[in-house]
Parts: sequence; structure tokens; C-alpha cells
Amino acid sequence: MKSLLIKPAFGLKGEIALSGDKSIAHRSIILGSLAPGKTTIENFPSNKDCQKTISAFKKLGIKIRQKSTRKGDQVITVFGKGLKGIKKPKTAIFVGDSGTTLRLLLGVLAGQNFETKLIAGKSLSQRPMLRVTEPLRMMGAKIYGQTGKRANGQREEYPPIIINGGNLKAITYRMSVASAQVKSAVLLAGLYTRGKTRVIEPISTRDHAERMLKLFKARIKVQQNSIVIKGGQELVSPGKIIIPGDISSASFFIALASLLPNAKLRIRKVSLNPSRYGIIRVLKRMGADIKVSKCQGVKVSRFEPMGDIIVRSSSLRGTTVRKEEIPSLIDELPILMVAASLAKGRTVFEGVGELRVKETDRIRSMSENLKKMGAIIQINRTAKAENIIIKGVKLLKGAKVKSFGDHRTAMSMVVAGLKAQGKTLIDDISCINKSFPDFLALLKPLIK
Ligand code: S3P
Repeated sequence: MKSLLIKPAFGLKGEIALSGDKSIAHRSIILGSLAPGKTTIENFPSNKDCQKTISAFKKLGIKIRQKSTRKGDQVITVFGKGLKGIKKPKTAIFVGDSGTTLRLLLGVLAGQNFETKLIAGKSLSQRPMLRVTEPLRMMGAKIYGQTGKRANGQREEYPPIIINGGNLKAITYRMSVASAQVKSAVLLAGLYTRGKTRVIEPISTRDHAERMLKLFKARIKVQQNSIVIKGGQELVSPGKIIIPGDISSASFFIALASLLPNAKLRIRKVSLNPSRYGIIRVLKRMGADIKVSKCQGVKVSRFEPMGDIIVRSSSLRGTTVRKEEIPSLIDELPILMVAASLAKGRTVFEGVGELRVKETDRIRSMSENLKKMGAIIQINRTAKAENIIIKGVKLLKGAKVKSFGDHRTAMSMVVAGLKAQGKTLIDDISCINKSFPDFLALLKPLIK
């Protein structure tokens, strides 16, 4: 346990660059492993989750080299072996608490003619897997997980999971939850069929898998909410991938600069992918002073838009975030709850039920913490949907709060503590390493 005491801040000034986007990083290792030949990945993040994807593919027989540059960036070289090149691992694969590693890996393993056991850490072992095992079974994979029940009594499946794949058939799959992890797993499995696999999303989610599959020359077509992939053909490595900065990591700085007085912050080379841009759209609607300038030139990513984000102090007002917007800011809801607690008027987040099944139940973790600091939060839960309603207050008061072992709850509470009156104590911040080990080191020099 590593606690953190936070004192109020009175300004934020400077310029930062962030390491690469976590979602893109996972996918770059996976596709680099499945494409024959060398793929070099620049600006790879050094967090725990992405390391789990690297170790999983090493166990599957892929050579992966990691190097740090003089500037401290990580450069990864993957020596891919083609779609059929991965080998049965000698022992079970431990994926830690990385949901993206586990769910996407299931998609790849569904296409392999051997059995693999996947073991998860404590928090991931309690997260639902049926959403991904169901379509993969329809495609022909044999999967054995731990059966259990959700809080609402519905049947569910949890890790550890044993999967035995091969001989997959193409399907049309209409997803019941809006999940990029499920979509990506089915598309990866689709590479191992002879036909066309179609995934239909209820609401569009982050499209990194589609963009990267295209970059690796997969035959993929996107038409609104329907994505079709044609299997049976080797991928082609683009040679080099530059990962843009992680907009989810940027969100804590963007919110803090909007909330604090005397703030001017530039965040360089961040991913500006529209399917991840919800945080900027919503904060701007709330009155935030955010300017975005697209990067051009040699050292930019070819498959994802990227640019600089400049944020200045502002005074925020409430807004309604509709359920169609939720996937584009799903990981930013905790920090948006902090912003909404300090905005003038009422903010409503509609259809946020998925927050219950993240690293922790984020509706509970964030509302318990923020209420301790004086926020006014109401949760409306019906059989069909769940909404969060926040009535802004003028001031949050420092308090003893908990991370619940969740990185995004911890970082959101750091931001809340910096803007609060009095001191805030967070019980355990070691979980931040899951996505953003540099968070505090980057933050400290900016604070006035
Ligand atoms: C991710 C998708 C999202 C997100 C997670 C990363 C991805 O999860 O919350 O942090 O890389 O595909 P869901 O697909 O479960 O919504």
C-alpha cells in the first residue's frame, strides 16, 4: 500500500508529452506478432497492462525486443511469425489485471489448433467474459471458463479460461454490449476463417483495431456500425508504428487545467481519434478553454490522427452526456465526474452501466469518494439503464478517500484533491502503474 497526501494547487503551467496510447499499444504487439517479419513500435508505454501483452506473446513463441531510448521512450521490436506462427505455450499464461490482453488474446487463440489456459489477477478474475466467449464459441472455439452469476442474477463467465481453437467459421455477430474489446476479439478471430466475419455494434466504440488491421493490409470494410473482415490471408507489417500519446492519460491534465486558476498547459502529440475524443467534446460543451492543433510532418502516426492540446483555466457548467457518447469517453467518466462536481448546475451521464464492470465498480468508487468531499451525486438505476446525476458545488473539501485498487479512480482523486480546500489522503496509489506510471512525476513540476 502506498498512500498519497495531496495539498491544494493554485495553478498549472507547462508542457508535457505522454507515452503511447494503451489500446493502440496492445494491438501493435498482437498484430506485429501475427504479421511475418519485423515491426518496430515507437513511443510504447511502460505500464503494467501492456507488459502483460508482451509477456503473453513471448510465451506464445514470439521474439520481442524492448529498448529504452536516451529520452526515456520505449522502442519495441516484434519479430512476427505470421497468422499460424504462434506456438502452444509450455505453461498457463498469466495476464494480470489487463482486460484488453485477455479478451483480445482469446480472439487470437480461438484461431489456434492447441489448448491454452489463461489466468487472471484478482480484479480481472471478477470481470465478465461471456461477452467475448459467446461469439468465439459461435465461431467454433471450445472454451471453458468459471461460471457464475452477475449481481442482477444473470449467468456469467469468469477467468481462468481454457481455450482450444482452430477450424473457425465466419459469423455475423450483433453485439449486445458496446465494447471495443469484444469487437476486436471477434475481428482477430475472423482472420482465421475462410469467409467474411461481420460485427455489428449497438453504438460505435474505439476503432483502433479497424485502423490497425487496415494498416497491416487486412481485408476489412467499415460501414457505419458494421465491420466486415475477410479471413484466410497473411497480414503485412507496415515496418514501423509510432504510437500517439494516450488521450485517456491526457484527460487528467486537461480536466485539472480547466478547473484550476492560472492554468496554461500544452500536451504534445496526443491521439485525436474521433472515437476517443468524447472527453474534449464534452469538456468544451461545459465551457472549457481547449484548443487543438493537428500535428503534421515526418514523425507522426500514419494511421491515427494526432495533435497538440492547449488547455487554459475556465469555469465549467453542467451538461447532458447521452448514452451514444459514452463509448467515446468510457475511461474518462471518473475524471468527468470530478469536473461535473465542480461545474455550475446539473450534469447527467446517461447509460453508464458498463462502469460497474471496469477495474472496480467505478460508479461506486467515484461517488463514494466525491460525496466524502462534499459532492452531490445521485444514481438512477432501472432494469434498462443507469444514469449519474451530479449537481455542481462551489467547493470540494479535502477528505480521506480510497483508490479501490483502480488506477483511474486514483488519478481522478488526485485531481479532485488538488482542486479541493484542505488536504486529501488517498489510501493506495500503487494501482496507477496499471496504465500511467509517470503520472505523478509529470504532474509535480507543473503545479504552482
Ligand atoms: C479498451 C476498450 C474499453 C476500455 C478499455 C480499453 C480497448 O473497454 O474501457 O480500457 O483497448 O479495446 P470495453 O471494450 O470493455 O468497453
